[in-house]
Amino acid sequence: MHQIKEVLLSEAQIQQKVMELAGQISREYEGKDPVFVGVLKGVVMFFGDFVKRVTVPCQIDFMWISSYQGSTTTGNMCVRKDVSADLKGRHVVILEDIFDTGNSLEFTYKHLLSKEPASLKICTLLDKPERRNPAVTVKPDYTGFVIPNEFVVGYGLDFNEHYRNLPFVGILKPEAYQ
Ligand code: IMP
Ligand code: MG
Repeated sequence: MHQIKEVLLSEAQIQQKVMELAGQISREYEGKDPVFVGVLKGVVMFFGDFVKRVTVPCQIDFMWISSYQGSTTTGNMCVRKDVSADLKGRHVVILEDIFDTGNSLEFTYKHLLSKEPASLKICTLLDKPERRNPAVTVKPDYTGFVIPNEFVVGYGLDFNEHYRNLPFVGILKPEAYQ
């Protein structure tokens, strides 16, 4: 049984926003043959819906990164799966589920920058600015929704690997944590 206290973003709201983001990015990357890099696993729903709405030729690729338990710095992260495309000279857009402390995007951004892309931007579906680590220097170029400081699940986001398959973003009931 799903233990959702409140639906924060409905399926319709999300789909509308994803369409807007894909429309804007399609216009800005016309003729640039961008590479969209998804950061697994949280991005899966957003990634699939987003690239379906992109109207310009593009490529897709994926990264999987891990942080050690309780990590608070980017120094405690590692690449579990790197991109397979050669990004040198390419226009790259990183797609993420959520920009929370920002540690994982900071790490991902620096990692991909070392591959010498022609340009590198960040598109995140959710942004939780209250949680930001002040040491993080990157910021999203495209943001779907700015959300309050609540732990959210669904549409790719998990709690202990559950709830990723929900088509909406919801806030968990407190008892779900126990
Ligand atoms: P960061 O703190 O910005 O590095 O975010 C790291 C990762 O934590 C994100 O990519 C998500 O997978 C996860 N995360 C952060 N906030 C939430 C949340 O509210 N719900 C579920 N996962 C989250
Ligand atoms: Mg997660």
